Amino acid sequence: MVTGASAGIGAAFARALAARGYNLILVARRRARLEALAGEFDSRHGTEAEILEADLADAAQLARVEARIREAPDLDLLVNNAGFGITGRFWETDVAEQDRLHRLHVLASMRLVHAALAGMTVRGRGAIIGVSSVAGFVQSPGSTTYAASKCWMNSFFEGLDLELKSIGSPVRLQALCPGFTYTEFHDVAGIDRKRISAKLWMSAEDVVAASLEGLARGRLFVIPGWRYRLLVRVLQFLPASWRRAGAIAYARRTRRDRTRT
Ligand SMILES: NC(=O)c1ccc[n+]([C@@H]2O[C@H](COP(=O)([O-])OP(=O)(O)OC[C@H]3O[C@@H](n4cnc5c(N)ncnc54)[C@H](OP(=O)(O)O)[C@@H]3O)[C@@H](O)[C@H]2O)c1
Repeated sequence: MVTGASAGIGAAFARALAARGYNLILVARRRARLEALAGEFDSRHGTEAEILEADLADAAQLARVEARIREAPDLDLLVNNAGFGITGRFWETDVAEQDRLHRLHVLASMRLVHAALAGMTVRGRGAIIGVSSVAGFVQSPGSTTYAASKCWMNSFFEGLDLELKSIGSPVRLQALCPGFTYTEFHDVAGIDRKRISAKLWMSAEDVVAASLEGLARGRLFVIPGWRYRLLVRVLQFLPASWRRAGAIAYARRTRRDRTRT
């Protein structure tokens, strides 16, 4: 199952998995996009794709997807990917949007992973990829709740991994932490791509290739791209006061750039 399969990283996961012969369950709100993708797999790879149109931020629609996972006797892989960004100072943003972000990133992730692990741990096989972000390693004023939700994802997956290891379970988990990836994400969040150095962009296909390679190697944290791996490593070694000063300077600069346009 791939959530958020109608675009970007989710669609790239679906394509890569179909090419490897997986039958898929595709989840997102835009049914027409999912249908087009399913048609592509059928003609190219002869694999099947079931479509689940659902807004995962809606409790009733989320429950349908959870039920589908619980009744799947042989779910090999869940890619918990659906997500979006909100930019701006927290108190100036729309609180209903913030509510939606937390329902999707935190509550839906928790419920879908719970449903998947209930079956996988009994069967003694399976894997879950949670699409997090390099933002999960930092505090990011201007996208505070986005980064906080990805910090939660990293901590959730690391804790679950320890629980699984404590019972010797072979079920594998991965927190995939991409940096800037060229998808519709920035259109949805209203981020001007021109402000981001060309060197930092990765393709969704490269991110997915790194994730699947990391899964084969049993890596819990996968950070695609050497620049981002280096960045995370450096940030982890910096004193907290330097990280805070850097975050404040970055927030001021981004705000200045935004008000100029
Ligand atoms: N792009 C980046 O630079 C970047 C970097 C780090 C991490 N990420 C993470 O990567 C993941 C995928 O993002 P992307 O870059 O591929 O963005 P994208 O191209 O905008 O795709 C987002 C996907 O999530 C789905 N989605 C959004 N809200 C949903 C909801 N309420 N219910 C069900 N599906 C929903 C969208 O489908 P519908 O609109 O059809 O529902 C779409 O398929 C996200 O978790 C994001 O935080 C992205």
